Order: sequence, then structure tokens, then C-alpha cells
Amino acid sequence: MGLLKKIWALLSRPNPKFALGIILLVGFAAGVVFFLVFHFTMNATNSMTICVSCHEMEGVYEEYKESKHYSNRTGVRAVCSDCHVPDGKTIDDYISKFMAKLTIGSKDIYHHLIGTFPTKEAFDKERGRMAQNVLAYMRSRDSKECRRCHSFDAMNMEDQEKSAARKHKRVMESADKTCVDCHAGIVHKEQAEPDEKGKDKDKDKAAGSDSNKK
Ligand code: HEC
Ligand code: HEC
Ligand code: HEC
Ligand code: HEC
Repeated sequence: MGLLKKIWALLSRPNPKFALGIILLVGFAAGVVFFLVFHFTMNATNSMTICVSCHEMEGVYEEYKESKHYSNRTGVRAVCSDCHVPDGKTIDDYISKFMAKLTIGSKDIYHHLIGTFPTKEAFDKERGRMAQNVLAYMRSRDSKECRRCHSFDAMNMEDQEKSAARKHKRVMESADKTCVDCHAGIVHKEQAEPDEKGKDKDKDKAAGSDSNKK
């Protein structure tokens, strides 16, 4: 009882130093709780189950399941967020991750709520535009999400086809192209590129999804 009395005495007697201490402590605790909730929400919304809960019917998921990024000889899988969301390991990337959630994520939820894509047909009409958005985003990051798993440094180019090795070596030296410039359509059905229509297709381009399917 003595302890309770002492605590009560401290709480009831106004002591500026003590009050400030309490405020700081409560503020700090609230900050920690806020950060934990924020951090875990960011990570929880990265799971494939969540993405697929909305993106199951449109084909993006089915196509992905046919790709080498879903299942391959060595058993390393890339899930949706591995390619679509920055990993947030550096402060810079943490901010990019948050921005991706804020912009792409809230757009996703908004369009889902207003029912922009009630049918697969409606989604298909928008796919070309979305593919371009995604590619533009990846180019702006110099395919950083791809490089999370792949690096020229770790590639044994002797093991690659001659044409691939030649292109990779050139890109490694000149950095004039980024991964997705040549490797669009690795997971999803490749969409026609509106800004490329009519023009010659990039002759550097690696084979599209179909020839890469297992
Ligand atoms: C609440 C439902 C919902 C969830 C959850 C969701 N999406 Fe979406 N997503 C949508 C809708 C609807 C669109 C179409 C939005 C539009 O018109 O731009 C979309 C569009 C996209 C696009 C195209 C974006 C663009 O810039 O045009 C990508 C990429 C995408 N989603 C990836 C993901 C990934 C990865 C996840 C999981 C981390 C995810 N989505 C979770 C509903 C959802
Ligand atoms: C989570 C790790 C991971 C990420 C992220 C990732 N990859 Fe891969 N990638 C792999 C694995 C594993 C394989 C399969 C290797 C095998 O065939 O055994 C693969 C295979 C490939 C292949 C050859 C097979 C095919 O489908 O053509 C290409 C090309 C490729 N990745 C490009 C990319 C690009 C471009 C990105 C970014 C948009 C990317 N990868 C992101 C892990 C990853
Ligand atoms: C100038 C075009 C070009 C660029 C840029 C490029 N690649 Fe490739 N890549 C190719 C070609 C061509 C092939 C062989 C055809 C194929 O597998 O699609 C290839 C093959 C691959 C393969 C399969 C290798 C194998 O032996 O199975 C992987 C993995 C790959 N690239 C990853 C990447 C990554 C990651 C980047 C960015 C860091 C990148 N590439 C940049 C043209 C390019
Ligand atoms: C290996 C990397 C990779 C993985 C894994 C991946 N995507 Fe993508 N995604 C891309 C790339 C690259 C594009 C740009 C268009 C293209 O090249 O296909 C794209 C485009 C999209 C688009 C725009 C529409 C379209 O068809 O182009 C949506 C929606 C999308 N992805 C959702 C998903 C969902 C949902 C998952 C998980 C089930 C997923 N992605 C897994 C790399 C990936």
C-alpha cells in the first residue's frame, strides 16, 4: 500500500519536472506504438494473399503462376510485392515503399471500392495503360526491385546464351538500358506498348513471356 500512496502523492502533487517526464514518456510510447502499427501494416499489406484477394480474376495471377518467378528448378519464388514494392531496407527505400503504398495502394483500394473493374473484359481494356505505368515506375527506379535478386555481378555470363551474355555485358558497361527495357512480359502477358505502335520493335528486346514460360 505504501508504494501506491507514494505514486498517488507524486501524481496528485503538481511537480513540473515529473509532469514533463510523464508527457515525454507517454509521447515516446505512443510514437513506438504508432511506428509498430505503421511498420507492420506496411509489411502485412505486402503479402501475396492480399494482392490476390483483388487481383485473382483478371489473369495477372494465373499468368504469374505459369511463370518461372512462381516456380522454378531452384525453388526461389518472387511474390507480387518483391517486384512491385520497394523493399524499404534503406531510409530512401523505406520512404519509396511508403509512397508506393500511399499512391498505388490507395489508388488500388479506391478503384476497387468504386468498382472500376467489375469484369475481366473491363480490366483487359485498361491493362495496356497499367503495364505502361508499371514499366515507367520500374524504369524510374532503374529496375531496383529486379536487382534485389538479380545482379550482373552475380551472373555467370559464361552460362548464358551468347546473345544474352553479349547484351548484358554491353548494358553493364554503358548502362544505357535497364532490365525491364528488355524484359517486359516476364510474368504477365506482354501488353502492346502504345508508344511503340507502328515503330519497329526494339531489336534488343529479349523474348517475351510466352517463350519464357516453362
Ligand atoms: C483492394 C483491392 C486491391 C488490392 C488489395 C490490391 N490491388 Fe492492385 N489494383 C486494384 C485495382 C482496382 C487496380 C486498378 C487501378 C487503376 O485503375 O489504376 C489495381 C492496379 C494495380 C496495378 C497497376 C498500377 C498502375 O500504376 O496502373 C498494380 C501493379 C497492382 N495493382 C499491384 C498490386 C499489388 C502488388 C498488390 C499487393 C501488394 C495489390 N495490387 C493489391 C485493386 C487492388
Ligand atoms: C525474389 C527474387 C526475384 C526478383 C525480385 C526478380 N527475380 Fe527474376 N528470377 C528469379 C528467379 C529465382 C528466377 C528463376 C531462375 C531459374 O530459372 O531457376 C528468375 C528468372 C528470371 C528470368 C529468366 C526466366 C524468365 O522468366 O525469363 C528473367 C529474364 C528475370 N528473372 C528477370 C527479372 C526482372 C526483369 C525482374 C524485375 C521486374 C526480376 N527478374 C525480379 C528471382 C527474382
Ligand atoms: C539490352 C537488353 C537486355 C537488358 C538491358 C537486360 N537483359 Fe537480360 N537478357 C537479354 C536477352 C536477349 C536474354 C536472352 C533471352 C531471354 O532469356 O529472354 C536475357 C536473359 C536474361 C536472363 C536469363 C538468363 C539465362 O541464362 O537463363 C536473366 C535472369 C536476365 N536476362 C536478367 C536481367 C536483369 C536482372 C537485367 C537488369 C539488371 C537484364 N537482364 C538486362 C537482354 C537484356
Ligand atoms: C518478377 C516480377 C513480377 C512479379 C513477381 C509480379 N509482377 Fe506484376 N508486373 C511486373 C512487370 C515487369 C510489369 C509491367 C508489365 C509487364 O512487363 O508485364 C507488371 C505489371 C503488372 C500489372 C499491370 C497490368 C499488366 O498486366 O501489365 C498488374 C495489375 C500486376 N503487375 C500485378 C501483379 C500481381 C497481383 C502479382 C502477384 C500475383 C504480380 N504482379 C507479380 C513484374 C512482376
